[in-house]
Amino acid sequence: MLTDTLQTYKKVVDDQLTKLLKTPNKEYACLYKAMEYSLLAGGKRIRPILTMLTLDSLHVGWHPYLDLICSLEVIHTYSLIHDDLPAMDNDDYRRGRLTNHKVYGDGMATLAGDGLLTYAFECITDNRAAKNEQKLSCIEILAKAAGPAGMVGGQAYDLHSEGQTLSLKELQVLHAGKTGALFLAAIHMGTILGKASSEIKDAYISYAKALGLLFQITDDMLDVTGTMEELGKMPGSDEKEHKATYTSIFGLEGAKAYACETAEKAKQSLDGLEAVDTSQLVALIEYLLHRSA
Ligand code: IPE
Ligand code: IPE
Ligand code: MG
Ligand code: MG
Ligand code: MG
Repeated sequence: MLTDTLQTYKKVVDDQLTKLLKTPNKEYACLYKAMEYSLLAGGKRIRPILTMLTLDSLHVGWHPYLDLICSLEVIHTYSLIHDDLPAMDNDDYRRGRLTNHKVYGDGMATLAGDGLLTYAFECITDNRAAKNEQKLSCIEILAKAAGPAGMVGGQAYDLHSEGQTLSLKELQVLHAGKTGALFLAAIHMGTILGKASSEIKDAYISYAKALGLLFQITDDMLDVTGTMEELGKMPGSDEKEHKATYTSIFGLEGAKAYACETAEKAKQSLDGLEAVDTSQLVALIEYLLHRSA
């Protein structure tokens, strides 16, 4: 069952994350505490899990690559800390607890984010199992995905679009950056570590693009329909900040229909592939389409 796998893999990622981030001296302990506060607060761990599921599908063990794979969660956590800042989405709760800046202040939260962003690349270089060329590819993929042409670009466009009505195409550009880029990186890194053929890599990349989009459509829907208990963050944040979202522009029903269409696209991307076991990747589509957290 996919849900059992997700639970087990989340625990594996959680355990690995607790082994990271050791302060080099007592003077920097406050920064490390702030980074750990958000990194170890839980979360679905979906990005590293995507890399693990990709490797499973390629029949390659992920265990030797766990620290490298966690780089995705380290970067993602940084993006959430900055996303919640008063100057951005101004949110008070995340992963079921107060946001980083509410506890440590805006300055320390900014630095905790900065620290996690750079530390993520150490997680890749420190790995002992991957070949140097694989590490280099992973660094390139992650840097591009997290940077101005990817996640940060999407976040900037999100900020710039507050209060505006975007076209479907513009929303796709926004979400391909802010959420899609890291989803894509997670699966792409899996194909590099798993030495996938170019045919499989191309198919997985189109799957990843659709899956990232699906994830953000459902995130927008949950901001309208979810509860604080389910989400660990306050619903209604998008409306409060006048965000351009799928629900604000197409309504809940329109967003639902678009989510179903996108799920179908993700499924089709994996059709007809041989020598790989895509069953978990396919099951994940349905799971994300109907998620409540
Ligand atoms: C929230 O990401 C931000 C988005 C990109 C939609 P997640 O929904 O993966 O948050 P966590 O990691 O589970 O807390
Ligand atoms: C945030 O998107 C995406 C990133 C952090 C890169 P949202 O602003 O929609 O995420 P939530 O809803 O606060 O988790
Ligand atoms: Mg945001
Ligand atoms: Mg936000
Ligand atoms: Mg959101």
